[in-house]
This record gives sequence, C-alpha cells and structure tokens, in this order.
Amino acid sequence: MSAPGKATEIDALAARLRAGGLVAFPTETVYGLGADATSSDAVLGIYETKGRPRFNPLIVHVADLAMAEQLVELSPLARRLAAFWPGPLTLVLPRRAQAGLSDIVTAGLDTVGIRIPDHPLALALIRATGRPLAAPSANPSGKLSPTTAEQVIRGFAGRVPVLDGGPCRAGVESTILAVTGDSVTQLRAGALPREEIEAALGHPIAIAREGATITAPGMLASHYAPDASLRLDATSFAPGEASLGFGPGDFTLNLSPSGDLREAARNLFSMLHQLDAQHSRIAVSPIPHAGLGAAINDRLSRAAAPRENS
Ligand code: TXA
Ligand code: MG
Repeated sequence: MSAPGKATEIDALAARLRAGGLVAFPTETVYGLGADATSSDAVLGIYETKGRPRFNPLIVHVADLAMAEQLVELSPLARRLAAFWPGPLTLVLPRRAQAGLSDIVTAGLDTVGIRIPDHPLALALIRATGRPLAAPSANPSGKLSPTTAEQVIRGFAGRVPVLDGGPCRAGVESTILAVTGDSVTQLRAGALPREEIEAALGHPIAIAREGATITAPGMLASHYAPDASLRLDATSFAPGEASLGFGPGDFTLNLSPSGDLREAARNLFSMLHQLDAQHSRIAVSPIPHAGLGAAINDRLSRAAAPRENS
C-alpha cells in the first residue's frame, strides 16, 4: 500500500480530481465515485456518470476532524458520534456558511452528509487532493453498489479510473444519522449497527420511516436493483431459480455458510452481481434482522421492490 507505485498513482489521481475529473476509490464500505466537493462542474460529472436523479445529495468524505469542522457545525452530540470516525457512519449536520461546498453536493439542503472513511487509500487520496471528496457509491444509479474495482470498471465500461484496494471489508454502505439539536435519527441502516450507536449514546435512537420528512433518497424503494427478479425469505427453491443461501445448506451461492452476518454483508452485493450475471430469477434465504442483518435486509427488500426508474 505504501509501495512507490501506489504513491505515484495516488498523486496522479489527486491531480485528476483537482482538475475536476472523477476517480473511483475504495472505502471500508463500498467503492465511491469521487469528485472535488468544492467544484460544481466536478460534482455534475458524478450525476452524469451515474445517471443519478438530481435531488439526491451526496456524501462528503474528509480525512480528519479538522477538515470536517471547516464544512459543518459539530455540536457536542455530533462530536460524541464522531468518535466512530474513521468508520462507516455518515452524519447529516448543519452546513457552515463558509464551507465552500458546491450547492449541487447537498442538492439544495442546508445540511451536509459527511464522514471519514476507514480506509488508508481513501484517506491518502483525500489528503493528496487537499479537498473534500463528494462520493456516492460507484455504480450506475439504481444498480448494485460495487465492492471490488472490477465491478466499478464493468459498471462504467472503463470510463472512470479506479484506485484498486481489493474487496471492501464491510460490503454495505455507511449507516446514516441525522443529528438535529438533541435528537438523532437513523436515515439509513448500514455497516455500523444501530445497537453499537445506541450503546455509545446510552439510549435508543429514532428510525426514520420511509416517506418521512427527511428522507435519504438512497431509501427510494428500488435503489439497489439487480436485473434479475428477487424473491426473499425463501425456504425452498423452484427449478431454474438461483439460490442465495445463509447458513448451512446446498445453494447456488452462500452469503455465509456459518451464518455470520458480517461475512454475509461483505458478500451481499458481489454475490448478487454474480447471480445477476447468469440468472433471471434469484431467491434468497431468510436473514436474521439483528445487527448488520438490518442493513442486509434493507438492501434486499429494496432490490426486490417493484422497479422505479431511478
Ligand atoms: O458507505 C457509503 O456511504 C458510500 C461510500 C462511498 O462512502 N457512499 C454512499 O453514498 O452510499 P450514496 O450517495 O450512494 O448514498 C448517500 C445517501 C443518499 O441516500 C443521500 O440521499 C444521503 O446519503 N444524504 C447525503 N446527504 C444528505 C443530507 N444532507 N440529508 C439527507 N440525506 C443525505
Ligand atoms: Mg448508492
């Protein structure tokens, strides 16, 4: 990772980002499609490349707390939650007037979704660029999130350079929390289990309902859609149906033969990608809802939902 070749590559990619170009990079959750968050032209490139609906605000990635403080107001409560940084937690916080962020990043909101990713290559790229990086997941809008460089290259037909960090550790996106005044609301279940957040705060947090006033557009019903049809909670499988298992058994692919939710989260998108490439019907075993199971089931139910054009 500290090989001279990687450092040279990161410098070249940072120069590309400073010039308004796009670079896909690894994080601990999924690969991000990065652009200089202070440049509207650069950020528009993300929307164009993803074909993403304009109203979706983007997560801003920074390398440290000092960089975050230039962009958002960190209340004492937000600071307590920032103890999870670097890590798979996005905080939606009030935007500073002098932040210098492109309006397109926040899609007109007066808040910013921000996080410090826990990945050495992501941090090195942000530092080398010297700018906050706006980065949604590096997939065409409405498609599966990528957890390997190969998936990014395939998704965008090689049009975006990718900093290759191997497979992502967590495999599902960050947990998103809105912090307003004294209250914390989970907008999206993700790689940081709600139970861990509640343990750190010492009390339960609210969960935004679908269609509630603050919605993360990542909550659009069919945001994570394979081309194949998807049947959930399957305990038996029809002929011609590919099976995606969890726990012991005989399946086309198995998210985790030992029933480990962390392993299942890491495998989720990449196994869906693999099955989607070869089958038109996929059925998935029941997955427990506790801990990371919430994020896995959230992604699966969106992937199985009637398709929207997003
Ligand atoms: O793990 C992740 O979060 C990955 C990696 C690349 O960091 N990124 C990611 O970004 O999943 P994206 O764009 O696919 O999802 C961002 C979600 C969207 O649903 C967006 O609406 C929400 O964050 N979001 C961003 N800023 C927001 C804001 N100010 N208010 C409410 N929701 C916001
Ligand atoms: Mg996404």
